[in-house]
Amino acid sequence: MSAIILGIESSCDDTSAAVIQGQKILSNVIANQEVHKNYGGVVPELASRAHQQNIIPVIASALHKANISKNQLDAIAFTRGPGLLGSLLVGTSFAKTFAMGLDVPLIEVDHMQGHILAHFIKDEETDIVPEFPFLCLTVSGGHTQIVLVKDYFDMEIIGKTIDDAAGEAFDKAAKILGLPYPGGPLIDKYAKEGNPLAFKFTEPRIPELDYSFSGLKTAFLYLIRDKLKKNEHFIEENLNDLCASIQHTIVEVLMKKLKIAAKQTGITQVAIAGGVSANSEIRKRFVEMEEAGEWKVFIPKFQYTTDNAAMIAIAGYLKYLNGEFTDQKARPYARSINK
Ligand code: KG4
Ligand code: ZN
Repeated sequence: MSAIILGIESSCDDTSAAVIQGQKILSNVIANQEVHKNYGGVVPELASRAHQQNIIPVIASALHKANISKNQLDAIAFTRGPGLLGSLLVGTSFAKTFAMGLDVPLIEVDHMQGHILAHFIKDEETDIVPEFPFLCLTVSGGHTQIVLVKDYFDMEIIGKTIDDAAGEAFDKAAKILGLPYPGGPLIDKYAKEGNPLAFKFTEPRIPELDYSFSGLKTAFLYLIRDKLKKNEHFIEENLNDLCASIQHTIVEVLMKKLKIAAKQTGITQVAIAGGVSANSEIRKRFVEMEEAGEWKVFIPKFQYTTDNAAMIAIAGYLKYLNGEFTDQKARPYARSINK
């Protein structure tokens, strides 16, 4: 029988717990925090408090859904970082205490590695997983990276954003349009009815494989500001086109560098991970690359795109196989240590 592991994720504003047996997810429970909606972004102190309220019911629910009792757990995996310290502390403290109480190993997982390793979940026998080496575009609210994945825990970041992350660009554009946080999914929704070429924005010129999104945000802000001076209904009248155009530009920027990375490395297995990988246009562009015979692509199931504990559980399982356990003294880290 394969090991049974509980994964806990609390790095930002989602409290999540998942149970995995081998590479198969038995449950993946996520509690979103509504409290941030009115603030246009995550408020760290409120996030930390909401995690404290959610963590026990979320873990109880994950165990119940998996039909697993706590005594059957072989290890506890948790997100050690990067993320908001107050949020990480809740999951970390709970994981340590639970592992100590059950006398099972504790396994730390890096959140960004978790996003990538979600590709190794095998819910069905037929699920195909990437082979090493492959490239992964990891795009979330806090990160935008092109990662050369040489092995499960041997990853090299070959490109990254020098300012805003792609998810942040979506969220900031949405905020300018008066949409609630997180705005990425709403931009995606309105973009479906809009013309992606209605508004043009200059794409950033950044050397090598790095990205920049802060200029795009400013260009978007100035466009809206100027247009609103002439027509106060400009946003309502053009919402779909505005969403389609900004989404198209962000996706175009992401794809361009990724294509260069694939050419430079000669790697044709390309994956996408992180919250922004839920975006319908980027998923479509990936499928097109496969249809054109350029890449073999790996697109995660929707439930494994935005923050979830299933990705922490699979990463925990892969470490469990190597006997890579964590000391009770481990403290969370806010910034990436896996360079
Ligand atoms: O990975 P994630 O859940 O959290 C972080 O680790 O940051 O990513 C959240 C980000 C947010 O910026 C959110 O707006 C974005 O992912 N996002 C999307 C979509 N769904 C989530 N962006 C564009 N289109 C989507 N469908
Ligand atoms: Zn994330």
